[in-house]
Amino acid sequence: PAVQPFTTPLPIPPVLSPVYSDRGTDYYEMTAKPANVEILPGTRTNMLTFNGSFPGPTIKARQGRPVQVKILNGLDNVTAVHLHGGNVPHEDDGHPLDVLQPGQTRTYHYPNIQRAATLWYHDHAHHLEAEQIYRGLAGLYLIEDRTDSPTLPRGQFDIPLMFRDIALDDSAQLLWNNNDSARRNIVLTNGKAQPKLRVRRRRYRFRLLNASNDRVMSFRLSNGAEMVQIASDGGLMARPVRRTEIGLYPAERVDVVVDFSALPGGTQLVLQNTVGDTPATKDVLQFEVAGGARRDDDDSSVPAKLSVLPPIGAPVMQTRKVLLSFDFKQGAFLINGKQYDPNRVDFTVKKGSTEIWEITNADPDPFAHSLHVHQIQFRVLDRGGKAVEPWEAYPKDTVSVPSGQTVRILIKFDSPFTGLYPFHCHFVGHSSMAMMAQFNIVP
Ligand code: C2O
Ligand code: CU
Repeated sequence: PAVQPFTTPLPIPPVLSPVYSDRGTDYYEMTAKPANVEILPGTRTNMLTFNGSFPGPTIKARQGRPVQVKILNGLDNVTAVHLHGGNVPHEDDGHPLDVLQPGQTRTYHYPNIQRAATLWYHDHAHHLEAEQIYRGLAGLYLIEDRTDSPTLPRGQFDIPLMFRDIALDDSAQLLWNNNDSARRNIVLTNGKAQPKLRVRRRRYRFRLLNASNDRVMSFRLSNGAEMVQIASDGGLMARPVRRTEIGLYPAERVDVVVDFSALPGGTQLVLQNTVGDTPATKDVLQFEVAGGARRDDDDSSVPAKLSVLPPIGAPVMQTRKVLLSFDFKQGAFLINGKQYDPNRVDFTVKKGSTEIWEITNADPDPFAHSLHVHQIQFRVLDRGGKAVEPWEAYPKDTVSVPSGQTVRILIKFDSPFTGLYPFHCHFVGHSSMAMMAQFNIVP
């Protein structure tokens, strides 16, 4: 079946209701299970889902208020659920080897003690994560804080956009091969190919997440209009940054505000992925401005000062090297020359300390990699010795490491939790082939 561009309305993933709330905590339940999902109109695609929904339901948490998520594994395989970007105890981290067997339930505890941010959850079962994320096991997890920049667009004007690429066969079933990312010729936005969103003549907040396994994307609006970036992986930035093109490696997020108020009713514009290679990976989403000659009443605004960020001024106690490479002889992805094994502990980190990690991608084009560090948000210092652009200097948990580059990040291990956590390339086609290592936080 062919994709009919800009006919399907953009769905918004359902917001999950707690099964129970008490004074201190919201309790959620989700079942990981196979389901038939409509990706292309009039067809059904077999996917792996949370609660039958792809993308999975959105969990909205409040900063400072804990959440418990009880997962039932209704799959034929093991799963582990990881809250990407979450500052959580290591036993709640969805460690790749700490899995739920089929039929098993398990409750993850999320304290939400970090800043408000656009996080996401996804499968992390070792060796299976690439296939299981590809088949649908991912959803958004938003930590909200009502006191943080209350003038930003909210409610129905605050819309998540989860992008991921897939390949479908003639009967609309997923084609899966970990080594075949070049064949994934459709980008889905919230689970639909080239959908359309009718917008009013006003400001919107969009939360962009690249949930692709291995596809790098770069977004621009077809009329060249500005997208005002207000947040990075770890939440609001100190100040907004005006951008016309936004690159996102897998797992990276940005929140932007787009103002449609100057566009007359009927205007159509497209959110384009400038590095797409097929129509359905290039023109990912169409906006159509509703209404006529008048702007909407819009009392939202983007303040010049968005947030006050905690300083990371402490003395740097360690500088560490992280070498990302592909071994052409073994056909293996390596971190510091080794594949993942459950006993490896690359770094022992003192709780509360500040470190610089120097990450090098030793591979030639086109081997791009990234680094995702569990549990903390870091700052990106420089690339190839040059200070990074302003939008990268804010809290992030995933950083792009293009071929041949060295990127330095500054990490303050300021979480109250100790223990063993992974760090890995977030091209999940690579991490599932053991491009993963571990650090241990000690008191
Ligand atoms: Cu989003 Cu360890 O991953
Ligand atoms: Cu990689």
